[in-house]
Amino acid sequence: MEFVLYEVKDAVGIITISREKALNALNSQVLEELDAVLDAVDLESVRCLILTGAGQKSFVAGADIGEMSTLSKAEGEAFGKKGNDVFLKLESFPIPVIAAVNGFALGGGCEISMSCDIRICSENALFGQPEAGLGITPGFGGTQRLARLVGAGMAKQMIYTARNIDANEALRIGLVNAVYPQEELMAAAEKMAAGIAKQAPIAVRNCKKAINEGLQVSISEGVAIEEKLFGDCFATEDQRAGMGNFLKKKDDPTKVKVVAFQNK
Ligand code: CAA
Repeated sequence: MEFVLYEVKDAVGIITISREKALNALNSQVLEELDAVLDAVDLESVRCLILTGAGQKSFVAGADIGEMSTLSKAEGEAFGKKGNDVFLKLESFPIPVIAAVNGFALGGGCEISMSCDIRICSENALFGQPEAGLGITPGFGGTQRLARLVGAGMAKQMIYTARNIDANEALRIGLVNAVYPQEELMAAAEKMAAGIAKQAPIAVRNCKKAINEGLQVSISEGVAIEEKLFGDCFATEDQRAGMGNFLKKKDDPTKVKVVAFQNK
């Protein structure tokens, strides 16, 4: 891999988009490498992913404008599909993904962060969908996910005006969950990921599935999805371990013991 780094720390996988000379902009190769890295994640041992960008300036400064500048109509559509396919894979990835947004998150950068489950950012982060100023629409899901995350009115304002927003405004409109000084961002992301990784893994996966799938359907269909996934948990060893641990603690507080969930 030339532009995408992957390391595993305990049960947390860290994916870093590393094309610093272009502010980590997404060209076809970066998209292909991201796709390959996701395929290579060991889902037996890794329970949460963090996605970030290399350096202190940029998370991802968008899709590669140089590469897009000469595309035909058909090639433009194919490039959009290429990004959308990878971002859909990320969004529906079985385990949670935290975006640690360490600087510019513009265009495709904002869009990839929105394909993650949770966004936290550094104080210097800048979010926006500048595409209309480049003569295009957002092409990697921005018209769809921004409206779902921050509401249609705010999404339309950001997209039509192509105006970027800073970290505090992103926090105010609910685009990110928290803002940290740059030097504390990765530690905060790793702490959150470790907190997720120690919960029952099948339950966490089922929660992600229920939330994501439920957001696409009516509330009655959504609760039916939840019922099924809730029921499935009762066929796991982790449910027995988790509840057994709680009941044991109740019987005898000296037996307090942290459960090590088995992913079974
Ligand atoms: N594509 C390709 N190269 C990019 C890039 C991008 N999106 N963003 C930055 N770069 C490159 C620059 O061309 C420059 O390369 P050179 O050194 O070879 O000239 C290098 O990264 C550093 O960039 P700047 O010199 O511009 O850095 P800066 O600090 O002055 O400005 C910036 C930073 C405000 C982020 C500015 O680079 C910028 O506006 N970038 C474009 C942001 C953008 O419009 N993103 C949306 C792209 S469209 C899209 O993403 C479509 C989609 O939805 C699929």
